[in-house]
Amino acid sequence: MSRPDKHELSTLSFNTLSVHGGNEIDKTSGAIRTPIVMANSYLLPEDPSTMDWSDTETPSYTRNSGHNQICLQRKLAALEGGQDAAVFATGVAALHAVFFTFLKSGDHVIVGDVTYEAVWRLFSELLPQRYKIEATFVDMDDMEAVRAAVRPNTKLIHTETIANPTTKVADIATLVSVAKQAGTLLSVDSTFTPPPFFRPLTLGADLVIHSLTKYINGHGDAMGGVVIGSKELVHHIKADALVDLGGTISPFNAWLIVRGSVTLPLRLKQQYASAEAVAHYLSTDKRVAYVTYPGLENHDQHALGKSQFAGKGYGAVMAFAVEGDPDTQNRFVANLKVITSAVSLGHDETLIVHVGGSGRGGSDRYPASFQKYGHLRLSIGLEDTEDLIADIRHALDETFGAS
Ligand SMILES: Cc1ncc(COP(=O)(O)O)c(C=O)c1O
Repeated sequence: MSRPDKHELSTLSFNTLSVHGGNEIDKTSGAIRTPIVMANSYLLPEDPSTMDWSDTETPSYTRNSGHNQICLQRKLAALEGGQDAAVFATGVAALHAVFFTFLKSGDHVIVGDVTYEAVWRLFSELLPQRYKIEATFVDMDDMEAVRAAVRPNTKLIHTETIANPTTKVADIATLVSVAKQAGTLLSVDSTFTPPPFFRPLTLGADLVIHSLTKYINGHGDAMGGVVIGSKELVHHIKADALVDLGGTISPFNAWLIVRGSVTLPLRLKQQYASAEAVAHYLSTDKRVAYVTYPGLENHDQHALGKSQFAGKGYGAVMAFAVEGDPDTQNRFVANLKVITSAVSLGHDETLIVHVGGSGRGGSDRYPASFQKYGHLRLSIGLEDTEDLIADIRHALDETFGAS
């Protein structure tokens, strides 16, 4: 039986693509799921002397490409609506691959002032100090500030769709027009807003990056990263940052992520619905000092989130704090029985992490409430909504006494 080929994939609807994309019937065994090919090397052609040793399309050496990586790349490009994808061992390796490939000494980049902490350190410290790459951190809610930050040597604008951890929403359509006018690339870390929820490429972004470790795998058992975009841009990334820097994902992790992503649309639906309910609950309890979540009407970019995400939801990550000092935040977390204290997000289980006011990642640019109380980043999982709310209520009662 034949499967949809690469071109036919784009005609399938999202749920169908999530099930069948990247999967092939194994010709050797007849297995209907692509097996894990744990091989470093592939058989060379009879005459390898004319081969391109940097080729990333035909597997010869797994650092450049291997069977499971190719399956995952094919699936992710189709899910995100891009022409091609390059997968890496982690989300940070994927982000760094973009910066390494498209920036050189003397170039300037505009970055959201709230961003994942590794990106913050890369642009505030490592890349300027070591490679003389200049970065301006800008409030991505202030398009005049973004326009004003453009310089003749600006090569890239980089933003997160919903920023980690403050949940600030970036206006991708406007950023596309600023980037086009300035002649720069626009790269978008869409880790908080995977497809089918949001697809920045359809609005004109040049590159989309995901930490696959999060929603796309969704089960908290594999790390990975991806950059998706045009064939030409992705080719540069593979040639420079994959072949000659490494950072390749393992075949096993690539296989796990193809499997995990089968349920992506179903998981997102449940997680986003639960997140809205939990955020509303938190916003009504007086023992909660603040809660920031784009689905709440008091969120600064609630209206933008509503139109940009077309009513499909507002993500499943929020930040909040309970009234009190850091010890009180820790006691509250210790009193949770269902929700797990651990880093990461987008997993099947709900995760909470207490980050003090002095965490990395530009915390002086966080809202005053974050600086006063620190924050608890909450990533909603797949448990029943009622159990999550009951767990939070119980932990608040234990921490403060019943309300
Ligand atoms: C928005 C965002 N981008 C990138 C990353 C990095 O991904 P990884 O941990 O897979 O390297 C994270 C990790 O939390 C993240 O939240």
